[in-house]
Formats: sequence, structure tokens, C-alpha cells
Amino acid sequence: MRANLLSTLLVTGAVHNSYALRPGKWCLEACELNLNYAEFNDTDLALGSHKSRACRSRLRTDSLYLCIDEFCEVDGRAEWLSRANETCMVLGNASLPSYDAILRQYPPEERILIQRLYADEALTFPTLNEVLIPEETFHERAFMTLEAAFYEYDIHLVYGWAMFYFWAAVLAIGMTNRLAISVLNLRKQGRQSTFQDTPEAGAPNIERKQGLFIKFEVFFRRYISIPATFNKRCSEPIGWCTIPSRIQSLAIFLFVLLNIILCTVDYRTTEGNLYWPQKSTQLWRFVSDRTGIISLANFPLIWLFGMRNNVLMWLTGWGYGTYNNFHRWVARVSTVEAVIHSIGYTVMIHERGGWVLFRKYLYKHYFWNGELATIFMCAVLAFSVYGLRRSHYETFLILHIVLSIVVLFTMYYHVAIFTTGEWNRFIYPCVAVWFIDRVLRAFRIFTFNIQFWNTKAIASYDADSNLVKLDVPCENNLMEAKPGTYYYIYVLDNLLYAHQNHPFTVAYINTGKESSALNGSDNAHSLLRPSRRRTNSTESRESDSLLPQDQGSPLSSLVFLIRPYDGFTSRLAKKTSLSPKNLRVLIEGPYGHSVALQQYRNVLFIVGGTGIAVPLSHLSAMLSNGSSAISIRIVWAVREHALLLLVIRDFGFLFEDERVQLEVHVTQDEEDKDDLIIEAMKNVTVQFGRPNVPVVIKEAGEEVGQERLAIVACGPGQMADQARQSCVDLLAQGHNGVEHFEESFKW
Ligand SMILES: Cc1cc2nc3c(=O)[nH]c(=O)nc-3n(C[C@H](O)[C@H](O)[C@H](O)COP(=O)(O)OP(=O)(O)OC[C@H]3O[C@@H](n4cnc5c(N)ncnc54)[C@H](O)[C@@H]3O)c2cc1C
Ligand SMILES: NC(=O)c1ccc[n+]([C@@H]2O[C@H](COP(=O)([O-])OP(=O)(O)OC[C@H]3O[C@@H](n4cnc5c(N)ncnc54)[C@H](OP(=O)(O)O)[C@@H]3O)[C@@H](O)[C@H]2O)c1
Ligand SMILES: *[C@@H]1O[C@H](CO)[C@@H](O)[C@H](O)[C@H]1NC(C)=O
Ligand SMILES: *[C@@H]1O[C@H](CO)[C@@H](O)[C@H](O)[C@H]1NC(C)=O
Ligand SMILES: *[C@@H]1O[C@H](CO)[C@@H](O)[C@H](O)[C@H]1NC(C)=O
Ligand SMILES: *[C@@H]1O[C@H](CO)[C@@H](O)[C@H](O)[C@H]1NC(C)=O
Ligand SMILES: *[C@@H]1O[C@H](CO)[C@@H](O)[C@H](O)[C@H]1NC(C)=O
Ligand SMILES: *[C@@H]1O[C@H](CO)[C@@H](O)[C@H](O)[C@H]1NC(C)=O
Ligand SMILES: *[C@@H]1O[C@H](CO)[C@@H](O)[C@H](O)[C@H]1NC(C)=O
Repeated sequence: MRANLLSTLLVTGAVHNSYALRPGKWCLEACELNLNYAEFNDTDLALGSHKSRACRSRLRTDSLYLCIDEFCEVDGRAEWLSRANETCMVLGNASLPSYDAILRQYPPEERILIQRLYADEALTFPTLNEVLIPEETFHERAFMTLEAAFYEYDIHLVYGWAMFYFWAAVLAIGMTNRLAISVLNLRKQGRQSTFQDTPEAGAPNIERKQGLFIKFEVFFRRYISIPATFNKRCSEPIGWCTIPSRIQSLAIFLFVLLNIILCTVDYRTTEGNLYWPQKSTQLWRFVSDRTGIISLANFPLIWLFGMRNNVLMWLTGWGYGTYNNFHRWVARVSTVEAVIHSIGYTVMIHERGGWVLFRKYLYKHYFWNGELATIFMCAVLAFSVYGLRRSHYETFLILHIVLSIVVLFTMYYHVAIFTTGEWNRFIYPCVAVWFIDRVLRAFRIFTFNIQFWNTKAIASYDADSNLVKLDVPCENNLMEAKPGTYYYIYVLDNLLYAHQNHPFTVAYINTGKESSALNGSDNAHSLLRPSRRRTNSTESRESDSLLPQDQGSPLSSLVFLIRPYDGFTSRLAKKTSLSPKNLRVLIEGPYGHSVALQQYRNVLFIVGGTGIAVPLSHLSAMLSNGSSAISIRIVWAVREHALLLLVIRDFGFLFEDERVQLEVHVTQDEEDKDDLIIEAMKNVTVQFGRPNVPVVIKEAGEEVGQERLAIVACGPGQMADQARQSCVDLLAQGHNGVEHFEESFKW
């Protein structure tokens, strides 16, 4: 008997020492979880919920306290108990008895004799009529179950926030880069605008450091910021997709990689999990939750990157096109994650109860909303393919907006029930960003003209040059128009299409002052209208009358050159094809930022067709007093001879400056070689056939050597890509001063 007792003591002693006490609140919760499997017979089953019954059961409370005492560390116990006490007050109108008083009733020798609650028994949901202590491994299973589940729960959210940290880092790099470049630009300007990476003899150490920095900067431009991702294609689509530039691709690649990693690591599956017995089920559950949460966390980024008015644009200096690429990729990743999330839950429900159970779930409000959210996200993606965007832009846009609203709504109702996580905090920012964008759009329209309904533009279409010229008065414009910026134009004369708006680069900023100064200057006046000087036919007088505002009107205005394609632009052309018209328009802008090209001594424009708007836009600033420009070369490929004439007639005075050299390549209307007027212009040459972009750029590079040279491309995809690649080649040949800019007319 004595030996028996002794051995029992030894055994229990051994048991007591065989494990360390478990820390934290999951140990306490695990005791609850263990005991929740049982019903104690000293409770009134009529007494509402399990929880409120549990509060009144002495058997259960004693068992709970004994369990806690046996397995758990003291830390945090008091707080936990008092919270449990409060819950019991609220739910069951009952307070828990004092912890110490109860334990005093169970001296050690009595505890040894208390029955243990084993998992096998517990999982049959028994009714118990005595005090019990959960058996050690059962408690451990509960502990691990809770710990794993809540660890995952927390880490999902941490990984969700990681999306924001990632983009914050990318944007920080962008901002630093912008800052560094502007500092460097100032320095370079100070040093006669040359771009030497070798410090002068006897230069102090700082110079050498700067040399290193410049070397890095050149390397960065040559290998990372300028080139296409691969294949030399960037603007030109490959099949139904376009590939962003290398630096954008890098950011996108890292983002996708981060998402793949964060959706695959850190899954704590445990043997004997009480919630999900099989490891595969645990994995499905954790993966589904992880992808669901990260998908949702990406939502604000999708909206932010997709907006026209995006603060990040002026912080980083990256354009709408760049953010649009980010927008697309974040959305794609988020959609894939949502799909995985939905598949995961479908599999889990199917495993548990087949399609019958799944059908039952479909009646749950949050569930079918979630399913719909995933389906609509896929729909948004499907309707955003390049082909559709290209060929039916307005359809794409309307579908995109409507489906996005549906996604937000269904997502809201999907997560609304999960009060614990406040998941809606990821949805409200989307709405806020969207709302702010719309407000800012309206604000930009107001600043252009407070009487926004009263902006009347003069539009004229010239069939020969296939171009609409739009002249918008801008005396009331509060925001200064800068070269190279663009404006969204709405045409209001047909209410059905009044919502449609398209971006156009401002081709010329007609400040009232300048035009009168030109008026006064000796030869500019005659050159303004070379066509009138040469002709005496009525026909050409007619074409002059296309441009009423040219008759010496000193009012300031913005001029847009618009090439008709489909939809909006072709309607505009049709409307004005017979005679110039006064159109009611809304002008929303300016957007984009103006590259300070006047800071460069040498600038080379490679432009095609209406791309001529970009150099026109910049020329006044580059020829103004503060400019450092000494050589401005414009290589322009143009199909229509008439477009050339039109540009020379209206803007010829800009090419009069001896710093400017315009090299026109007429590629189609070769038959009417009527170049009388152009011959009169000193620095304008006309050739036939396409320009050889790589050769042009190579020559320009050789001419400037180490000096700074800005190469600005705006033209068809192939041309823009050739320019991009040639810039990289120049850098490779050691022309370190080459900088590349692309003004894309699409995104
Ligand atoms: C920054 C920028 C500046 C531009 N400047 C000029 C310019 O000075 N002169 C000029 O002739 N053209 C310019 N364009 C191009 C002009 O916006 C398109 O030709 C015009 O939108 C075509 O509209 P559409 O309805 O006639 O043709 P659609 O057939 O409806 O569209 C043709 C293509 O234009 C694109 N597009 C249409 N609307 C938009 C929009 N709101 N935002 C972005 N892409 C759109 C679509 O992707 C589509 O692939 C510029 C474009 C951009 C992005
Ligand atoms: N809806 C749109 O997508 C849209 C709308 C408006 C403008 N844009 C863009 O705006 C720009 C100008 O448009 P546009 O319609 O006015 O142009 P365009 O009339 O098509 O003129 C382009 C000119 O560039 C030449 N060219 C093309 N590829 C070249 C190359 N690789 N090397 C040398 N020359 C080349 C063409 O020569 P050939 O005659 O021999 O082809 C043509 O003379 C383009 O970027 C265009 O894509 C796009
Ligand atoms: C619970 O069961 C025990 C043993 O069977 C019995 O003694 C006790 O009276 C029961 N308690 C209640 C409240 O029924
Ligand atoms: C709570 O219990 C006390 C006695 O324990 C009783 O007097 C009181 O009416 C109860 N309150 C409610 C709301 O049931
Ligand atoms: C619960 O609250 C009551 C009264 O507020 C108190 O007497 C009792 O000791 C508390 N129990 C615990 C475990 O804190
Ligand atoms: C500009 O020309 C008009 C008529 O051609 C003339 O009346 C006007 O005085 C001129 N302005 C200046 C500033 O010379
Ligand atoms: C101008 O008219 C004269 C006579 O009417 C004609 O000989 C001449 O060719 C015309 N010039 C041009 C450029 O059309
Ligand atoms: C530009 O410079 C010229 C001479 O250097 C001067 O006569 C003219 O007034 C200046 N114009 C402005 C707008 O500063
Ligand atoms: C422009 O023309 C002038 C003389 O008319 C000439 O001196 C200058 O070199 C030309 N500029 C270029 C870039 O060819």
C-alpha cells in the first residue's frame, strides 16, 4: 500500500516535472477548449448558451482552475481570469469564484486522485458529473491548436501589411532617386554642363566620391532605368500584351515574388490539431486565409495606382503609365489570390459535407458575396485585356468602373461579418481614394475655368493633314500650363458622349504677350504665314480661314493637335470636317510633369506624326532667356505633307531660331513635293522616307561626346523602342551624358 502510494507519488511527480509550464494566454484558453468538449451535470440545460451555463457550473469552474494550475505559468493569469469573470457577468449574470479559494480546497494528495479527461473521451462530447483535469497530451493538443491557429491569424495580417511596406520601399527609392538626380543636375549645370566622370586633376576627395556616384548613376541608366525589359520591345505590343520597361518590370517582378513567398511560407501544421485533424485541411485553411487576406490588403493599392490624381506621381516623378502598370499587376496578383482563397474554401467545405453542404453555404450572405467578389474580380481582369482596351476603350472603361463598384460592394459584405479583424479598413481607403480622385478632377476643371460650362474652343479639321486643331482660350486658367503636360478634353455638345474624355498633350501655349511680341518682330510675322506669301489662289485662303484665331488675336490659349482615330477623336473630326466650329468643352488638367528640357544644352527629339506636339510644346521655353539650350534637333517622321505645311504655317516662327534644326521625313505623300515655303526656312530640311532612328541617335551622340544630351521620343511604338535601345547603345559606347525621355501617347 505504502509502496503503491509512493510509486504514484513518484509517477505524478515525474509527470509534473516532465514538461515545463506553458506560457501565455493560449495555455489558459486551451484549458477552456479542453473542457468545452464536456457538459457538466450541475448545470441547468435550460440556461441558454453553453458559455453562460459554463459560468454557473462549479464542477467546470473547479476543473478549469485545476487545469490552469497544473499546466500554465502564472504570468497573465489574473488578467485573464478577471476578463473571464466579466464575460460571465455579462452573459450569465454569474461571477466566478475566487481562484485561490477554490484551489485551497484541493490539496496535492487529493489532486492525484482526480480523474483525467482524455482526448478520446472528450471527443465523444460526454456529460460529466465530477471534477476533472484534462490529460496532459490533450491539453497540449489544445494549446498547439490554438497557438497555430492564432499565430497564422496574426501572421496573415502581418503579411498583408507587407504589401504596403513593399510599395513604400519602392516609392522611397523612387523619391530618393529623383532627389539625387535633381541635386546632380544642379551640380552638372554648375560645371559647364559637361558630364565627365573623371575628377579633374588635383580635385579634392569629394570630387572622386562624386565620380563614383556618377559612375553608378550611368550604370543605373544603362542597365536598369532606360532599357526595355528584354527583347528591345517596350512600347510596341507583343501579341496581346505590352511589356513595361526594365525598371518597372523589376519592381513588378519583386512584388509578384514577394506575394508568392508570403503565400507559401510560415504554415504551422500540427499533428493532433483539434480544429482541423488532418494536416491537409490545416494547410488548405491557412493558405485560403492567407491568400484571402493578402488579396484584400492589395485593394487600396489597386485603387491608388489606378487613379489619375495620385500624390505618388509627383513625389516620385513617375508618370501615369508607370503607375498604371503597377495597377494592373497588383490587380492581377490580388485576383489570383482571391481565386485561390475561393478554391480553398470550396475544397474544405466539399471535404466536410460534399456539395450538399456547399449549397447550404451558398445561402449564407457573406459566403455568396465572397463568391461573387471573386467572380467579378476575374471578370474585371478578363475585360481588361489589351485587345479590348485598344479596340473598345469606352466599353472597357464603363465595364471596368461598374465591375469595380460591384467588387467593392460584394467584398464589403463578404468581410463585414468578421468583426474581429475590421477588414473593412481595407475597403474604405479604396472608396476614399476614388472619391478624392473625382473631387480633384472636378477641381482641375474648375481651375481651368471657373465658368467651366462656358469654355468654348475652336476646332478645325483639315482633311489633307488628317488633323483636328483645337484652340482653347485659357485666360481664366489658374494653373500655369507647362510644356509637355497633357489635358483631358470633354466635348459637351452631345450629352450622350459628354462623359467621354481623352488625354492630349498641349502643343502650344499661346500666351497673349508672346504673340504680340512676335507680331512686332520683323520677320516672324511673315514666317507665321508662309503659305499666304507664296500663293495667290483662293484655295489656300480658304485653308487659312480654317484658323480664325490666327488673325492676330492676342488672347491666350492652348493649342492641341489631335489625330482622329476611332470613337471620340473621329467624332470630333466629323463634327468639324466642313467648317471650323465653336465647341463647348471641359478641360481637365494639367496632368503629367514637365521635363525641364531647357536645362540641357543639347536636345534631340525623335517624333512621329502628332508626336510633333511634344517639341512644339517645349520650344518656347527652350528658346526663352533662362534656357541653356544651344542645339535643338527635331527629327520628325510624318505621313501627310499637309500636316507639315500646317505645322510650318502655324508654328514656323519657332523654327526660326538658329539653335533649332528641324529635319522632316515625309513618309507617304511623296508626290506633292511643294516645298517652296520650306526652302525659305533656314534650318528646316525635308527628306523622303523614314528616318533611320538608330543612325540619327548615334550621330547625335558622336556630335556631343561627353556633353549632356536629352533624347526625347514620342512616336509609334517601334520608333520609340528604337530610340530607347539606341540610347542604351550610346551609353554603352561611353556617351555618359545621354538621358532618355519617352512621352508616350498611350498606356
Ligand atoms: C498622355 C497622352 C497624351 C496624348 N497626346 C495626344 C496628342 O497630343 N495628340 C493626339 O492626337 N493624341 C494624343 N494622345 C492619344 C489620344 O489620347 C488618343 O488618340 C485618343 O484617346 C483616342 O481616342 P478615340 O476614342 O478616338 O479612340 P479609341 O479607339 O477609343 O481609342 C484608341 C486608343 O486610345 C487609348 N485611349 C483612349 N482613350 C484614352 C484615355 N482616356 N486614356 C488613355 N488612353 C486612352 C485606348 O487605349 C485605345 O487603345 C495622347 C495620349 C496620352 C495618353
Ligand atoms: N490610338 C492610339 O493608339 C494613338 C492615338 C494617337 C496617337 N498615337 C500615337 O501617337 C504617335 C503619333 O501618332 P500619329 O497617328 O500621328 O502617327 P502617324 O501618322 O502614324 O505617323 C507616324 C510616323 O512615324 C513613322 N514611323 C513609324 N515607325 C517608324 C520607325 N520605326 N522609324 C522611323 N519612322 C517611323 C511613320 O512612317 P510610315 O508612314 O512609314 O509608317 C509615320 O511617318 C504614335 O505614337 C501613335 O502611336 C496613338
Ligand atoms: C451529478 O451526478 C452526480 C453523480 O452521478 C450526482 O451525485 C449529482 O447529484 C448530480 N448533480 C446534479 C445537479 O444532477
Ligand atoms: C442576477 O442574479 C441576481 C442574483 O444572483 C438576481 O437578483 C438578479 O435579478 C439577476 N439579474 C438578471 C438580469 O437576471
Ligand atoms: C469575480 O468577481 C467577483 C465579484 O466581482 C469576485 O468576488 C470574484 O473573486 C471574482 N472572481 C475571479 C476569479 O476573479
Ligand atoms: C500686331 O499687329 C496688329 C495688326 O497686324 C497691330 O495693330 C498691332 O499694333 C501689332 N502689335 C504690336 C505689339 O506690334
Ligand atoms: C499666282 O497667280 C499667277 C497668275 O494668276 C500664276 O501665274 C502663279 O503661278 C500663281 N502662283 C502660285 C504660287 O500659285
Ligand atoms: C531676354 O534677353 C534679352 C537680351 O539678352 C533682353 O533684351 C530681353 O529683355 C530679355 N527678355 C526677357 C523676357 O527677360
Ligand atoms: C541654322 O542656321 C544657321 C544659319 O542660318 C546656321 O548657322 C546654323 O548652324 C544652323 N543650325 C544648325 C543646327 O544647323
